[in-house]
Order: sequence, then C-alpha cells, then structure tokens
Amino acid sequence: MAVGDILIRGPRIIDPGRGRDQIGDVLIRDGVILAAGRSASESAPEGSRIIEASGLVASPGFIDMHCHLRVPGFEHKETIATGTRAAAHGGFTTICCMPNTEPAIDSGQVVDQLLERVRDEAVVRVYPIGCVTKGRRGEELALLDDLAAAGVVAFSDDGDPVYDPNLMRLALVRSLDLSLPISNHCQERSLSRDGVMAAGSVARGLGLPGIPAAVEEIMMARDISLAEETGGRLHLAHLSSAGTIPLLRRARDLGLAVTAEVCPHHLTITDDWVLGAGRTGPELEGRPSYDTFTKVYPPLRGQEDVDALVEALAEGLIDCIATDHAPHDQASKQCGYEEAAFGISVLETALGSVLQLVHQGRISLPSLVERMTVGPAKALGPAFADLATLGAGTPADIVLFDPDLDWVVDTSAFESKGRNTPLQGTPLKGRVMMTLVAGEVVYQDKGRWPEADAQ
Ligand code: DOR
Repeated sequence: MAVGDILIRGPRIIDPGRGRDQIGDVLIRDGVILAAGRSASESAPEGSRIIEASGLVASPGFIDMHCHLRVPGFEHKETIATGTRAAAHGGFTTICCMPNTEPAIDSGQVVDQLLERVRDEAVVRVYPIGCVTKGRRGEELALLDDLAAAGVVAFSDDGDPVYDPNLMRLALVRSLDLSLPISNHCQERSLSRDGVMAAGSVARGLGLPGIPAAVEEIMMARDISLAEETGGRLHLAHLSSAGTIPLLRRARDLGLAVTAEVCPHHLTITDDWVLGAGRTGPELEGRPSYDTFTKVYPPLRGQEDVDALVEALAEGLIDCIATDHAPHDQASKQCGYEEAAFGISVLETALGSVLQLVHQGRISLPSLVERMTVGPAKALGPAFADLATLGAGTPADIVLFDPDLDWVVDTSAFESKGRNTPLQGTPLKGRVMMTLVAGEVVYQDKGRWPEADAQ
C-alpha cells in the first residue's frame, strides 16, 4: 500500500543488525525505509508526514517466533484480528503462530485457509508454524513438504512435545532438506505426569503436584543429541530452568544448528507468584490462595532459574525472546489450579516486562532489542533478515517506544481477548508508543498522538 513519505524525527535509533545506536531520523517512502541516521531528514521532501519521536527509541519491529492465535477452532480465545492488534500494541510487527488449533495446522489446505483469514484480518505479518506430526498426535510425521510449500516457517507440535525420539530424529533430518527449524516443546511426560506448577516449596505448601526441571532438561538433552547426530535444525522453545543452560552451551560449543528462546515471564517472575504475589489487595479477597493466571507450561520456577536465564540471554547463548502468548477465555482459568488451562497472555506486556532487565543493568538496551529482532530472525532463517533491520531498502516495520515511561498493566485496555496475565495491576516501566508495518501505522498511543493525527 502506498503511504507516501514519512519522517520519524529525532528518536534514538537502535538497529542492532547494523550496529547502529544514535539519535537521528528515519525516512520512509511507500512503506520502505529510504534512510535512517543523522542525515536522513535531508532527503525528506516537503509535505512529508512528520512523526515527532524525540525521547523515544526507534528500532526494527519485534519478531515473535512463538505465539498462539487460536485460529482455526478457538476463536472464543483469540482471532487473527484481536491477536494481531495485540501484537501491534506490544510492538511486534512479525509473529509466528503455533499449530495447536482445531483442526491442527497439519496440511497445506489448513495453511491456505489460515492465510486467507490473515489477509482479511491481520494488522501485522503472520507466519504459520506447521505441525511436526499429523494432528499433533505424535504417531506419524505430518506432510512436511506440503506444509512447507504452503508457507509455514517452522514445524512444532507445541503444547505437546514430539515425544517419540525416532519421529523427532526423522523431523530433524527433514529440517535439512526443507531449511526450516523444528521447534520442540520439551516435556518428558512420564515425569511431568499431572504436575501443574514447578516442583518445590511453593507447590508443596499449596499441595499441588509439581513439575521437576528434569522434565524439560531430559528431552532437551535428547534433542541436542539428535541434532548432533543428524545435523538438523533444532529450535528449543520456552526454556525455563537453569539446568538447560549447560546443555545449550554444549550444543553451541559443538557448533550445532541449535537455537533457543526464553519467554518474558520466565525472565521476570517466579513460582512465588502462584500465590498471587503480584496481586495484593482486595481483588484477591475471597479467591483461593493462588492465581490460575500464573499457570503456564513450562512453569514459573525459582529465582536461581530466572537469574541463569537472564545471564544466558545477556550473553547471547539464548538467541531470542519469544512470548508464547497463550490467550485463554475466563472459563478456562476461573477454576481450580489443577483444572485451569496452561498459558499466559503476553504480547501486550512483553516489552514492559523485559525492560526491567535493562533498568536493573542486567542487559543493555541494544542487546535486548537484538534478542527481539535479529535473534528470532536468525533462528527463523535468512528470509527474515530484512524484517529485523532499519537498513535502507527494507520494509518499514518499526516500533517506537519510551523505555522509561511508567504505567500500570490494565487488562481492560488489552486488544487481546486473553486477559489471563498475573501482571494485572503491576507497575511496569517502558511502553510501546507506535508500531508501523510497511510504513503503515498499526498502533499509536492516543495520549502522545491523539486520534486526529492518525493516518
Ligand atoms: O502454557 C502454555 N500454553 N504452554 C504451551 O506450551 C501451550 C500454550 C497454549 O497453547 O495454551
């Protein structure tokens, strides 16, 4: 869509892919970046739309390689329209949606139907992830060629692991021919059994069945061995335990094609939050002494796990941040902890959550931006490189954010249908102010830019 010339004036431009961190301007023509940097405004023609952005950071739009849009089949939890508006609200311009839908995304035909709905409803770029196994049943491989030809960008049975090691091995072999990663949800079910939260003192105190860290580590070790044997492309979804880090380091030292992601909640909150730690005050009165909005797989763990994950992210051992945005309806969460669905609604709190790490001095702002742009783009493959930079000639997918703005999470302002976050009422510092996809404004903060200024 032709959107004319736009000049974003005066932000701190952080473009990790180009090693750029400077105050400057970004000039956009017809949805493409014409120039970014100190002298970009010199080429701006008269009549360009000016977006005043001093005091803000401009970076490539965030890329989320792991979210749930619930389409097809669970539109009461999320739709393409609500999920992509939530993404735009959170600064994400590219998102990849998981195939644990109904029907599961396990054939080219389901992908075609999904992409038709994406064309009609989406406000950000959406790339589907196809199943590893037919119907996610773990019995036989899905038609991976058919899925790849239809446009999936990775394979996963997320929500469930690829449980059979031989199927995982075969999938990794195919990942080579197809040049697409296999993202595994590592969960050794014979150990996790009926567990609903991290094993430990909080689970014991509540009398809830625990999920030991070995559940994740055992399958991760298996998958790394299989990646070593096959040379296949393995992506490790949602790391949660400190014990995963030495395994990942070994894979990296061996030079394997292994990448890994971590979610905002596993970087910032612990299993204490299951007790409702984040939600003090009257809203907890009359409720059970736990918060089902904290129920997520993998579960929230202890501070030593959080610290190890943060260090591995800062070091670059963990490649990227992914949200695992998992919206649920109220009925799936207004029940006992054991019956509640696993999952947190994350897209709209992700940036504010992880900026805590910058404010605490545990990761630099450019590194954090790298892990939300270049990191996921590399894990997905070279086709995504242009979506992770502000280089001239690339699509104008841009987020403007204020890293220091204080705000309080209010789920009634969410675009997502999923209000299931334990962060309701939590103060965060740092907020998305505007999101552009191909030069088109898909979200803007009404406080800074009143509606009248919208395109
Ligand atoms: O908490 C989770 N929710 N973890 C998953 O792996 C799946 C997801 C969902 O689909 O709700």
